[in-house]
Amino acid sequence: MSPPRIIARKRDGHALTAEEIGAFVRGATDGSWADYQLSALLMAICLRGFDAEETALYTAAMTRSGAVADLSAIPGIKVDKHSTGGVGDKVSLVLAPWVAACGVPVPMISGRGLGHSGGTLDKLEAIPGFRTGLSLAEYRDQVARVGCALIGQTPELAPADRRLYALRDVTATVESIPLICGSILSKKLAAGIDALALDVKFGRGAFMPDLPAARELAATLVRVGRAAGKQVRALLTRMDAPLGRAVGNALEVTESIAALRGAGPADLMEVTRALAVEMLLLGGVAADPAQARARLEAALSSGAALEKFRDVIAAQGGDARVVDDPHRLPVARHVEPVMAPRSGWVAAVDARAVAFAALRLGAGRARAEDTVDPAVGVAGVAGVGEAVTAGQPLAWLHANERSSLTDARALLAGAFALGETAVVPPPLVADRLAE
Ligand code: URA
Repeated sequence: MSPPRIIARKRDGHALTAEEIGAFVRGATDGSWADYQLSALLMAICLRGFDAEETALYTAAMTRSGAVADLSAIPGIKVDKHSTGGVGDKVSLVLAPWVAACGVPVPMISGRGLGHSGGTLDKLEAIPGFRTGLSLAEYRDQVARVGCALIGQTPELAPADRRLYALRDVTATVESIPLICGSILSKKLAAGIDALALDVKFGRGAFMPDLPAARELAATLVRVGRAAGKQVRALLTRMDAPLGRAVGNALEVTESIAALRGAGPADLMEVTRALAVEMLLLGGVAADPAQARARLEAALSSGAALEKFRDVIAAQGGDARVVDDPHRLPVARHVEPVMAPRSGWVAAVDARAVAFAALRLGAGRARAEDTVDPAVGVAGVAGVGEAVTAGQPLAWLHANERSSLTDARALLAGAFALGETAVVPPPLVADRLAE
């Protein structure tokens, strides 16, 4: 099963067999394929595609490239959520403890931010002491004890994806639906989940540019997840403006704590609540959406959701006092407003431009090896439809380096479009795909 022969077959447009796909994934895992051979086949797949069967075989091989966690001894249906990523997307921080407080075990494997899109692990690590690098045994134990764990991909889980993702990142082969599907689902399936809710985002601040592209990715994920024996549902959500009012790691933790206190911004709560309803239905603790919503409201108003977040932080070594006193989170040295140049209504906020402003301040990473500054970012972002008067802040820059402020201020100011009349923002949840 020589690499050049397999590469040539895909180059010439043939469907690969289970053995050929197995050889490719094994070659990525054990090092027997060189980077240039893996990259050549990735490009061939990117150009020629995988059919439904090849995509399912590839996802299964990727899942089996390392350990598959066994959570079957933990009672309940274990449900995770995956988002394709966006700007200000702190949904996981609110959703995971909220759903766990309703009795659904949530084993959540998250990623780091790269480019314009933020990462749950970076946000959690803004909490002093918080460990995202649990071993598989610690992860299993915490899901059993606390009902929720929020961790990063361990070295044992889907190791083929680590190598292939790094190569895709530098060979222009990220934008392939079968490759994205194998990458996302292999990590989730290896983590031992029973069901998955997907947040597939589209728009200016998302990975997928428009609704048809997002629908195609969501349909593939749902179909391949089903073929692997899991229940998968997907929401297609708009990501044109940042989600919530804060973009930056500690700033987003503060906003998440407010959300768990019942004081979250409407857009963040809309997406989080919709995903939480899906997770309660998948987890079998609610018979219908109305029952799920009632259970969720009870967990929020009783403080159970916030308590669960506190438990998760403490279990993972973090300073749980941040829940009562967010000032214990890292704070930036300089805080400056960006003012509205005239009066009007906020017609649009360009999520990507806000993300680049936060990135310039040091909140994210341009390359995987960069470090992030947990304190910096953008907060108090005026929402679409809001009325503003000239000289009123549209957003606040939180910076540690004065030198970063000039560029960030220009980027942030350019993110806002002001109109003469009020606009009503469209619903964020545009569609839902279920098996
Ligand atoms: N996220 C992943 O984990 N993998 C991809 O390929 C794209 C987004």
